[in-house]
This record gives sequence, C-alpha cells and structure tokens, in this order.
Amino acid sequence: MDPQELKISLSYRSEYISDRASVIERETGKMAMWDVLSNLWESKDNPDGIVNLGMAQNWLLRDSVSQRIRDSFDPPSSALTYTEGTTGSKRLKDAMSRFITHHFFPFKQVLPEHVSVTNGTTSALEHVSWALADPGEYFLVGQPYYMNFVPNLTWRFGARLLTVPFEKDDDRFSEVAVERYQQALDNAKGQGKKVAGIILCHPHNPLGRCYPRKVLIGLMKVAQEHRVHLISDEVYALSTWENTVDKECTPADFHSLLSIDPKGIIDSHRVHVVWGMSKDFAAKGLRIGALISQYNSHLHNSLVEAGIFTMISSFSDHIAVNLLEDEEWLQWYLPEHQRRLSQNYAKIARWAQNHGINYAKGANAGLFMFADLGTKYRETHDVSPTQNITQLVQGALKEHKVYVSSGDDFGCEKPGWFRIVFCVPDYCLFEGLGRIIEALH
Ligand SMILES: Cc1ncc(COP(=O)(O)O)c(C=O)c1O
Repeated sequence: MDPQELKISLSYRSEYISDRASVIERETGKMAMWDVLSNLWESKDNPDGIVNLGMAQNWLLRDSVSQRIRDSFDPPSSALTYTEGTTGSKRLKDAMSRFITHHFFPFKQVLPEHVSVTNGTTSALEHVSWALADPGEYFLVGQPYYMNFVPNLTWRFGARLLTVPFEKDDDRFSEVAVERYQQALDNAKGQGKKVAGIILCHPHNPLGRCYPRKVLIGLMKVAQEHRVHLISDEVYALSTWENTVDKECTPADFHSLLSIDPKGIIDSHRVHVVWGMSKDFAAKGLRIGALISQYNSHLHNSLVEAGIFTMISSFSDHIAVNLLEDEEWLQWYLPEHQRRLSQNYAKIARWAQNHGINYAKGANAGLFMFADLGTKYRETHDVSPTQNITQLVQGALKEHKVYVSSGDDFGCEKPGWFRIVFCVPDYCLFEGLGRIIEALH
C-alpha cells in the first residue's frame, strides 16, 4: 500500500470493526506470504506446495541453534511470572548490552539501561514510531526500503513515510545519499511537512549493502541540521559475509551507528539503533528485538508502561540469555553463520551468472539477492511498453509455485526486480531457482 494511502474511504467501512482496522483488513487479503507459509513445498509431503524464497528466514544453522537451546533449556519457575518488568529481565539486558558492546564496537560501552527488549525487531520499530513521532509526522526512508517499514511505522500510530527517490545512476550508499536526504528534508520543510526522523536499514534490505562510515556521519549531520532523529535498523548487523564472487566490487564493511561518537555531529538523544535475534541467530520464532538508545532515557522511560504490549515471554528471555552469554559457543557460531551465508551467496550468484540474470552486485550482508528477473523475462516474451513487467513475472512465478518478493513491495523505482532469499537448504534453493528459470522462459 502506498504509505500515504491510509485514508478511510467509504468502501473500507465495516459495521463491525473500526475504520482504521478495516483498512488493514483489506491489506491482509493482499499479503501472499501467509498463504505461502500454509502451503510450503516439500518433495515428499507436499509436492504441490509453493517453494518459499521470499521470506527472509535463515535456515542454514537452525538445527545447531535449536540444539544449543535444548542443551541449556532449564527455565526457573519464575519464568511463569512477569519476572522483572516489561522490557526484558535484568539478566537479559545485561547479557545483551555486553554482547552488543563486544560485537558492534560502540563508541561508548552499551549498558543495560540503554536497552529496551521487545518481542521482535518489528515491535522495536513500532515503538520508534509511537515514541518519536506524533500522528501525521513523517519518517524518511530511501528507496528501495524494507517493505515492513510501511506497516511497522505507519499502521497503528498515524506516522507517515516520505520516500526518498534516487536517480538511475545514483549510488545509494555514497555521499549522494546524503544529498538526496538533505533535498527531501528541505522539500518537506517547504511543503510544511513535519519530519520526525530518518530511518536507515543498515545493512540494507533488500540491497545487502552497508552504509560507509562517512555516509553515516553525513546523515547524522543532516539529521542534526533539521533536528530530526536518526534510526538505524541493524537487524542484519552480524549477517555480513565475504562476497567471493563479485570481484569487481569493494563493498563497505559494516560499522554500527553506535560506533560513531555523536559529539559535535548530532544531539546524541536523537541517535537510535534497533536490533534483534531473528536474523543473526536464525531465530525469528524466539521474538527477541531491542531498541538501543544510549543517551535518550526519556525514550526508555516511556516504554516502561507501553512495553506491556510488547513484552517478551519469560521463556524466550531465558533462551536468549543462554545464547548471548555463551561466549565459547558464539566464537564458533558467528563465524560459521557468516561463512555459510557467503557460501550460499556464491551459489546463487553463480546461478544468476550462468543464466545471464543481472543482479545488484557487491552485496556483503543479509540473506538475499536483489535480481532483475524482468529483463530476462523480456528476452523470451513480447512485452509491450504499456505492460507491467513486475506483474507479468509475478504471474509466471505464481504459476510455477515459487514465491519471491517483488521490488514493488520494497518501493523499488526499477520495475522487474525481485528479492530472492538464498539461506535455505540446498534442495529447496535449487528447486526454487529451477522454477524461477522455468517461469522466465
Ligand atoms: C530490516 C528488517 N527489520 C526488521 C525485521 C523484522 O524482524 P523481527 O522478526 O525481529 O520482527 C526484518 C525481517 O524481515 C527486516 O528485514
């Protein structure tokens, strides 16, 4: 849905739920993902099902993580209570703050009071929207953007998104990005729109790249000039890897926003990071997310009461502590996770090259590749300039029962691009990639 389209039209109205819930009810019908999940392909058990290369779930070390969880799962009886509050137990905040200090190289040590834990990164993002923007205020997101920024930031609390477009040859990870955000903020001001913040996805979903340090500093300066927040969604922070295929590119390494000293650049109250264990720990079902803000105690204080809506289960709290505190296991797990991602990227990149499919080169993070399936489709089909290439490819993929997300969902300016998730077992990856090729011919 267009971010600005949350207007109530008469046709959305229902006698039985609120107008705003009716708008979302209408959206739910369009979301293919939930249909896909209930009909997943399995060669023996569900041969007529759909191959899912659409959802950014990480399967590669799922068995190791679940084994590690089983090995130490011994929850205290206090896990049946609310334990110590709405934003995570003391022990979890302690473990998480030490973990982040160790792995994100923050400029200043992260302390337990800098962290509010939520049931998933999604909830941390929604808190950002609720706590940093009033209804009708805007968040800036560069195109393409993580598709769920739209529901997470706009659906329930009335904030809006202002998308920042780029020109064809712009490198979105260079200083050009800083200029584009600057222009967008100037334009918003000219139009009387109140902007609450800039939201980055860093590393980027769907492009799989990181913002270089100097670009982050440039964005901090722009945010300060316009007195807006800068929020970095770093849910893929430790899902970075070596790109062994696209030799012609030298992608920037990941530097957390927390690693930059805000002094003299931006009012530190306006700097925030969200993270979670869904991607880096292959544990989406654990529902562990966090909002990390090192200087803005008002933000954390506001969540003490509001956090009741996004409290994590005390059992997840217990599991997360066991994972984050186990330094010996982490020393094996994190490099192995990154090695496997690198290996699987190499598999999909070679597949794309062998089939002459153009893709966004130089990724070094995330669980997916962003590829131009539209151009390949045109090679074997007559497509008139008035036809919507994204819809045509989507139709062909649906017919061949393979699910990938379209660039349209990410607000991508270029038609015909799709995000293909590669961190699934080989039998599933190659089945899905084979179906994509059949669909394109
Ligand atoms: C950039 C980004 N942020 C947040 C999330 C949501 O994570 P969680 O499962 O922790 O809610 C995702 C998941 O796809 C994501 O890609």
